[in-house]
Amino acid sequence: MENSLKGQVALVTGGTKGIGKAIADKLSSAGAEVVVTARTAPAENPNGHYFIPADLTQAEDAETIAIEILRKYGRIDIIINNAGANLSPGGGFSTLSDEHWYNDWQLNFMSVVRINKALLPAMTEQRSGVIINISTGAAKQPIWGMTMSYSSAKAALNAYSKALAGELGPKGIRVNVVSPGVVKTPLMLDFIENLAKSSNSTVEEVFQGVMDKVGVPLGRMAEPEEIAGLVAFLVSPEAKYITGTNYSVDGGAAPSV
Ligand SMILES: NC(=O)c1ccc[n+]([C@@H]2O[C@H](COP(=O)([O-])OP(=O)(O)OC[C@H]3O[C@@H](n4cnc5c(N)ncnc54)[C@H](OP(=O)(O)O)[C@@H]3O)[C@@H](O)[C@H]2O)c1
Repeated sequence: MENSLKGQVALVTGGTKGIGKAIADKLSSAGAEVVVTARTAPAENPNGHYFIPADLTQAEDAETIAIEILRKYGRIDIIINNAGANLSPGGGFSTLSDEHWYNDWQLNFMSVVRINKALLPAMTEQRSGVIINISTGAAKQPIWGMTMSYSSAKAALNAYSKALAGELGPKGIRVNVVSPGVVKTPLMLDFIENLAKSSNSTVEEVFQGVMDKVGVPLGRMAEPEEIAGLVAFLVSPEAKYITGTNYSVDGGAAPSV
């Protein structure tokens, strides 16, 4: 993959931690100029990613990101819509307020729609580009009582991505979804620690509970780099005939093909 992305400009939202950071590092190592966004600047940035502060739940921040990228680089070749999280508490449908639903949909769905809308005029003019939307296995198989609003927003993201791929294929732009299973990131580790506190259990017990509930044949969580490897392939010229698909990277957890 060395230099396969040389001369290309890539945006990775949420590129300062977890899966997004691993993707940003991987795309840099393949030669791309990488722009990362998050609410907080990373403490360390050894690969010199260009950082734009943004809260993607705020509609105007998508426009700010697009303006800044096009001002600095004059083009955009790769968009990785990675920022996302389950912002709602467990407990099922009756615990979810309108605000929980709104927050999950803003971060996990509307932010992606807005980023793409702001940058697609530039990509369309170039008649080339790749978009990867990071979804989750829980879009197809919600975790009962835990992910209702998050799973719904990500399921909408999957359908939106398919529609976008159909529309943009004739313009030379590919759109794919990558759906991780359980990945060892700050988000996942916080989730496990909070659940341990609220259920009076140990971190080890909660970890085992999550693994049993999800059921991972490979028997462990993914490392962020294992998601980044697939993303790097999908944005590369090797994948130039692949669009409109949704790839699971879940250690075999999905219960159906
Ligand atoms: N970890 C898993 O097991 C797992 C499984 C399936 C799918 N996923 C998906 O993978 C993606 C990445 O997850 P992760 O586990 O790597 O998360 P993470 O470790 O929490 O990292 C999330 C990144 O997004 C940024 N971010 C969060 N909220 C934001 C906001 N409102 N505006 C702008 N940036 C924001 C964070 O930086 P700041 O906090 O500084 O803003 C950080 O850079 C998400 O879409 C998630 O749904 C994760």
